[in-house]
Amino acid sequence: MISRSLRMRNLVESVRVASSLSKLGGCRYNFTSQAAAPSLQQACEPFTINSDDESADVDWDNLGFSLMPTDYMYVMKCAREKNFEQGQLSRYGNIEFSPSAAILNYGQGIFEGAKACRKADGRLLLFRPDQNAIRMQIGAERMCMPSPSIDQFVDAVKQTVAANKRWVPPPGKGSLYVRPLLMGSGPVLGIAPAPEFTFLVYASPVGNYFKEGLAPLHLYVEDEFDRASYGGTGGIKAISNYAPVMKAQLRAKSRGFSDVLYLDSVKKRYVEEVSASNIFTVKGNLIATPATNGTILPGVTRRSIIEIARDLGYQVEERLVTVDELLDADEAFCTGTAVGVASVGSITYHNTRVEFRTGSEAVCGGLYSILVGIQRGIIDDNKGWVVEID
Ligand code: COI
Repeated sequence: MISRSLRMRNLVESVRVASSLSKLGGCRYNFTSQAAAPSLQQACEPFTINSDDESADVDWDNLGFSLMPTDYMYVMKCAREKNFEQGQLSRYGNIEFSPSAAILNYGQGIFEGAKACRKADGRLLLFRPDQNAIRMQIGAERMCMPSPSIDQFVDAVKQTVAANKRWVPPPGKGSLYVRPLLMGSGPVLGIAPAPEFTFLVYASPVGNYFKEGLAPLHLYVEDEFDRASYGGTGGIKAISNYAPVMKAQLRAKSRGFSDVLYLDSVKKRYVEEVSASNIFTVKGNLIATPATNGTILPGVTRRSIIEIARDLGYQVEERLVTVDELLDADEAFCTGTAVGVASVGSITYHNTRVEFRTGSEAVCGGLYSILVGIQRGIIDDNKGWVVEID
């Protein structure tokens, strides 16, 4: 039981963060109108969470991967060298930072991505949220931030999904993408950890990550721009890992490619990862993927696919993978929470385009069916990966 005064403090705090600013909205997906936004006074009044069963007014057949604001977000704060204690749901809306917040000036921030699916019987399932919690803790340590405990993280994700349940797509139509953020929210001027940190979880319904839908991807091997370097932050979900890939990604897209595949920054010989996903190769019964050596993100989907493939009898190796080995493979595919498992149709490297096996013969299709089956509660979860939301 939390005390009345603590509850009150949390409420006031969460409303302040959630809404301080921007004329908060009780936010439906088309929340852009000032008229719909409550006043600051309304925002500071306690609200009742209305997580009714009525589905949100969304064209579920045409979901892509773009932000669709939902109703609620979760906010929890803590001071430097303290622990996170108690967070609170608040209405989804803009948040306010000092111009000298560490996140804005020095990129002190990390994020996570998780998905909730709706089962045919209406129950909501999360996939391995504890793994996201652990990865956030590792990232927070690297970025000199306190992090929520695993229980706090999972509870916050569950609360966010439950409060926004009308935004979870119908079975088979997509999922509710959950985005936990951990930020140095307090002000600093010299380079130093922030005096205050904010953990925030928001959510958006999503469909396919790539505009290609489930069609095979066409990747461009980048050897001018690097994604990560040894000793850097490529192995954690630092916010600062993502803006630097945009230039290479935009350039590749303007040339008709789906995304970019990065090489190691020293020898430019080993495959690392794609902008938002890990990469795998298949040759006969052998599946290979770059080992997580500090420059590769240890993806939750990556690890799950490795386990599923081993269960099916494939030999799976995590090690250095040269670009030549990739080009000689029968098949290649990408994995990620947002991406799922995406078949690669071709890879272009130094003006040479190599095509790969795709379609019903591809190994990745079978792996993906099992993964999605577990995530959606269609296949028995004998691994304890799925967490049901009460
Ligand atoms: C995810 O797969 O959850 C990610 O974080 C990728 C993101 C950059 C879209």
